[in-house]
Amino acid sequence: MSLTSFPTGGASSSGSPITKVTMPALAEMKRQGKPISALTAYDYAMSRLVDEAGIDLVLVGDSLAMVVLGHENTLSVTVDEILHHTRAVRRAVRRALVVADMPFGSYHGTVAEGVTNAVRFVKEAGAEAVKIEGPRVELVRALTSSEIPVVGHLGLTPQSVHRMGGYRVQARTSEDMLRLQADARALAKAGAGALVLEGIPREAAAAITAELAIPTIGIGAGPDCDGQILVFHDLLNLTFGPPAKFVRRYGDAAALIREAVEHYREDVEHRAFPSDAESYHLPDATRRNFKSEPDDENAIVNQDALQDWES
Ligand code: KIV
Repeated sequence: MSLTSFPTGGASSSGSPITKVTMPALAEMKRQGKPISALTAYDYAMSRLVDEAGIDLVLVGDSLAMVVLGHENTLSVTVDEILHHTRAVRRAVRRALVVADMPFGSYHGTVAEGVTNAVRFVKEAGAEAVKIEGPRVELVRALTSSEIPVVGHLGLTPQSVHRMGGYRVQARTSEDMLRLQADARALAKAGAGALVLEGIPREAAAAITAELAIPTIGIGAGPDCDGQILVFHDLLNLTFGPPAKFVRRYGDAAALIREAVEHYREDVEHRAFPSDAESYHLPDATRRNFKSEPDDENAIVNQDALQDWES
């Protein structure tokens, strides 16, 4: 066991002990040249599968607003909503680092307000780090000195959609690229433990990754980052629209769900579900006394028989 990890007390499906991923462990992965896998997740079942698949970092992203709650952008999701989903993810995840995304408005006022809101994600939902968008250097410093690990997020920051005039690739000019590099440097210096780079040219991401000691995690930033993150629903075709250029679909959960649900509906409509084998039965002794055509009085299930079925 290394100094940057600690056992969870659990075991993987193969029986080997699980080594928890921590923020320092991510930096160690960068030092060792090991790619970091990251994915968003928002509920118990999916995060459990993501964790069991060995993903290193699970982000309860504010993309929750769009892919789970059906909003047009990420701006309207609230602290309470992200807290609610982070708790569910926390209950499922044993190995991955759990990061909560701070929603729009929860850190855009004073630094003190930002710290107060971040503390809620750690204290009330069990997050192990928070992610914030933009070069908020002072806030990163304050969070770090409050013992809250921070993942920064630069480039195409979706909470800036109105300022950017849409979801556009950032840092295309050398001036913008230099500013981005300076912001990344400043966040790392202020204590950020990792940096998400979104929607920027590959060359810009590569330069930042090469310069910083902290890991970069790319999304639409090319293959040279220390790790990659995608939105769970993009990966599995659950987003109901054409994917962005950087998305690779690794599965078609939409087709799987449609097919399964249609099959179920058809079976119900044709009385093919449930079968006799999928039904509970009276114990033999009770069945012998039971009238097959119950009168109104007998229509109420006999409580003793019910207990027999359930035991
Ligand atoms: O909310 C989100 O999904 C993100 C991305 C980095 C994946 O911030």
